[in-house]
Amino acid sequence: MKILTFIRTTIAYIIVVFTALFTCHSQEAFTTVKKSFTFVVIGDWGRNGNEDQMKLVPSFANIVEKSDAEFIVSTGDNFYPVGVQSVDDIQWMNSFEIPYKAHPLHIPWYTVVGNHDYRGNVQAQIDYMKRSRRWNFPSRYYTKKHLLEDATPKTEVQLFYIDTNPFIEDYQAHNEEYNVKGQDTKKQLQWLENELKKSSAKWKFVVGHHHIYSGGKRKGEQKELVQHIVPLLKKYNVTAYLNGHEHDLQHIERDGLHFITSGAGSEIRPTGNVEGTKFAKAMHGFVTVSLTNAEALLQFIDEKEMVHYKLILK
Ligand SMILES: [Fe+2]
Repeated sequence: MKILTFIRTTIAYIIVVFTALFTCHSQEAFTTVKKSFTFVVIGDWGRNGNEDQMKLVPSFANIVEKSDAEFIVSTGDNFYPVGVQSVDDIQWMNSFEIPYKAHPLHIPWYTVVGNHDYRGNVQAQIDYMKRSRRWNFPSRYYTKKHLLEDATPKTEVQLFYIDTNPFIEDYQAHNEEYNVKGQDTKKQLQWLENELKKSSAKWKFVVGHHHIYSGGKRKGEQKELVQHIVPLLKKYNVTAYLNGHEHDLQHIERDGLHFITSGAGSEIRPTGNVEGTKFAKAMHGFVTVSLTNAEALLQFIDEKEMVHYKLILK
């Protein structure tokens, strides 16, 4: 009888250990991919260089350098709490130029804007392109194509930067706070569909500030984007949708589509699982995307340059 109890206890212990091993995400060092084309995704960062913002900067700069990244993607909410008022706003220095002054970070930044940016002057973020050699925000929505120079055969990646703010019904209902009135979502959707349709890029990423699905603070789905954006992601075989807004890092796979949240550039908030969650963690961090002709490697990295989660897309 004692032997039977011992065997049962041992088996139970082994099951617990194995379950723990396969469900927790162990940390490992960053992987550089030879002859790859890398960009780095960070969001929700600008807080006047406070402790939360600054603690991520050394890791961010080092990984951008180690990966030889071509550019940075900002998923919006660039300036807390109320965007910028003008191109001379002190936030440009306190939240952007000074915190990200390290040499490796002087590569192009392509951004979208978030709800906090909308509380200020969005046009000033467009106009700042004339002041900065790295800031790229030509309009509220735009697209940019890049060639993977080292790939054979020649391979393209195309990013479609969209403005999710005017889609949110609650913002339309509270225009005095969110300033979204006058932004034509039908026109934007038509533009997005046209651009996706004519794209010949192997890799396609749509970047918007708001999540579509999340296990974070706003657990669930952003129904307006599920209705309008998801069908286009599906129809045009988009590699992944990249967003901020939720202050964590997440990978959700739903209906064959990949949703990546990178909104942990400064403040972080508790997160969790929803249908399709593959990874969710409340940690200061960002995501690298390394592309070759064959595959896309995404790495979810913390302030100590440690990789908590890896994802390969083909
Ligand atoms: Fe936001």
